[in-house]
Amino acid sequence: MSTNPLVRTLRYLNWLCNPWHGLDAARIYELLATSSPTEHGLYLNLGFWQHANSVDLASDALAMRVAEAGRMDSDDRVLDCGFGFGDQDILWARRCRPRQIIGLNVTESQVALARRRVAEAGVADCVDLRHGSATDMPLPDASVDLVVALESAFHYRTREHFFREAWRVLRPGGRLATADIIPMPAATDRRMRRRQRISWGLVASKFAIPTENVYTQPGYRSALERSGFESIRIDSIREQVYAPLHHHLRAHPERLQRLHPIARLPARMTLGSRPESVYAGLDYIVAEATKPSTDTTAEGA
Ligand SMILES: C[S@@+](CC[C@H](N)C(=O)[O-])C[C@H]1O[C@@H](n2cnc3c(N)ncnc32)[C@H](O)[C@@H]1O
Repeated sequence: MSTNPLVRTLRYLNWLCNPWHGLDAARIYELLATSSPTEHGLYLNLGFWQHANSVDLASDALAMRVAEAGRMDSDDRVLDCGFGFGDQDILWARRCRPRQIIGLNVTESQVALARRRVAEAGVADCVDLRHGSATDMPLPDASVDLVVALESAFHYRTREHFFREAWRVLRPGGRLATADIIPMPAATDRRMRRRQRISWGLVASKFAIPTENVYTQPGYRSALERSGFESIRIDSIREQVYAPLHHHLRAHPERLQRLHPIARLPARMTLGSRPESVYAGLDYIVAEATKPSTDTTAEGA
């Protein structure tokens, strides 16, 4: 990715303003680079704000919420899909001390920087970060205890391919945990439905969400079941994600300083609107599921 400021500006304009120019997830994250609104880390997630009062703490809390959903512990060999700059892996290595974390990420610049950060944090013996896709895992069957995807699976082509791959690489009895963005069920009120469509459409088009991944909670459950998972639990945490983040950023506009100037403008406009409208179409879920211990086979596998 070019570091020439003019080229970057043109790329931002093309991404944000050109409705016919769809970037794939890796190109979007190459463009965004390290422009996260965090103060200390480089997280790219929206955070779990139940008890947090900063972007860093909320991002840590979301990572821990996923670790809890997956019951991450010291015996586990974990596969982390879409690890961003590796903040979550450093956190889990320190707090949950799993046997090993293998990470897969399609954005090359993130992989390079995340590896350096993991080494600097002194956890490289436990964390092995690789360039690769969650939909084509370079791992043998039944080789990990837990697969996690922290705010990443909505990008995958497709999320259901990821579920099948996760099922394949998990040992019998292994777990899957995700924090994920899906659409809200359609409202009965016509004006609300319109707001939902606009809100979802903007996020889906700018953040490379394939149409195959557009389903609400019952669809998510069915996709997990079709892939062979059981003991499925899906919790919406949207009330602890979108509005609190919105209020926090509105109260701390300095957190937007790391954004590229072209991205700051729509971010400020968004923060000037009411969160009920901006996020009307967006649900935010934490999902957990288990691969059966008995030797059943995923449909079509
Ligand atoms: C919203 S960011 C979240 C990053 C990180 N989990 C965090 O919480 O800071 C989404 C991440 O998913 C990664 N990603 C997108 N598609 C992917 C794929 N098919 N396989 C693996 N990673 C992918 C992106 O490169 C990016 O790191």
